[in-house]
Amino acid sequence: MSSLALKRDVASGDSADDSLSPTSTVIDGPIGKKIKVFDLNVVQNNKKTNFPKVLHDPSSKQGWENLDDLEKISVDAGKAIEEFRNYENSARQSIVQVHYTEMRKNQTVAKVDYFYKKYHTFNKCEMTVWEGFEALKGYVDSSDPDSDLPNLEHMLQTAEGIRAAGYPDWMQLVGLLHDMGKIMYLWGNEEDGQIGRADFPQWALGGDTWIVGVPIPKTAVFPQLNLLNPDKNIPMYQGKCGMYSSKCGLENLKFAYGHDEYMYRMLLHNKTLIPKEGLAMIRYHSCYPLHKENEYKELLAPGDEELLQWVREFNQFDLYTKADKRPDVISLWPYYQNLIDKYLPGTLKW
Ligand SMILES: [Fe+2]
Ligand SMILES: [Fe+2]
Repeated sequence: MSSLALKRDVASGDSADDSLSPTSTVIDGPIGKKIKVFDLNVVQNNKKTNFPKVLHDPSSKQGWENLDDLEKISVDAGKAIEEFRNYENSARQSIVQVHYTEMRKNQTVAKVDYFYKKYHTFNKCEMTVWEGFEALKGYVDSSDPDSDLPNLEHMLQTAEGIRAAGYPDWMQLVGLLHDMGKIMYLWGNEEDGQIGRADFPQWALGGDTWIVGVPIPKTAVFPQLNLLNPDKNIPMYQGKCGMYSSKCGLENLKFAYGHDEYMYRMLLHNKTLIPKEGLAMIRYHSCYPLHKENEYKELLAPGDEELLQWVREFNQFDLYTKADKRPDVISLWPYYQNLIDKYLPGTLKW
């Protein structure tokens, strides 16, 4: 499928929120529209920080080696496996294994239901997308541990890669938003594996996911850990379809909980105009057994395979827009604020 074939038009949303916070600034957008940008001073201050060498430079091991073991545990582990898969670094292997051990031991149907209840009320906080990025500053991700805005930078790089390749604007916005669900850490706790700190495992924030309520496939990362999953002892979760009916469709499946599911539900709750293909990228991007290993075929309904093709298109940008160059947040933001105004305007419920 070519990128041109994937292009589509989506009706424009509009926003007219004139209430400015004391620290927001109005600037000219790329199409002559005035745009509100929050807290430019904060961004400018961040530019003065001495950032470490980018960790994702595949020609260098520098960076990863500078993390202590506990920081490595906090890695977005699914991504790390892709990013560092050519490295022979046994230390990394064992650290990432800790992350997945916790995931396998804890992510069950019952626990996913618990997270649905806890997080899908969307009454935790109200804020704009930019304010959400500001709030994410406290989240520590090993991809750039000393940066104040590491997630915004990774997401901007993903979005810029999608934009440069000529994909539609809503897909660019998906690039910007795709990891934003990690903001859950603000309301999480250690018991739930949702502390966004380098010194705690993050087994319900990041990492490769799988579909719960059906046996975990052998193609999942660290398949030897599948035995640790308590759901393997529950008869109704066994067999080809587990607790689902044949061809029930992607939208009826439950996934090991993390930033993907939270952000997907949050976008639905706030009535985003991002099309379903974009929502699929957000909800399924961490489920490698589904979109990379082609598992769960018996659960897919007509139309699902097309959605997964979009997820695959997206994932190349998530994984391979490596940080050779730090994105210039200030100059790029007005462009993306326009996309936010079009597809996800105003103050949002989180
Ligand atoms: Fe992600
Ligand atoms: Fe990502």
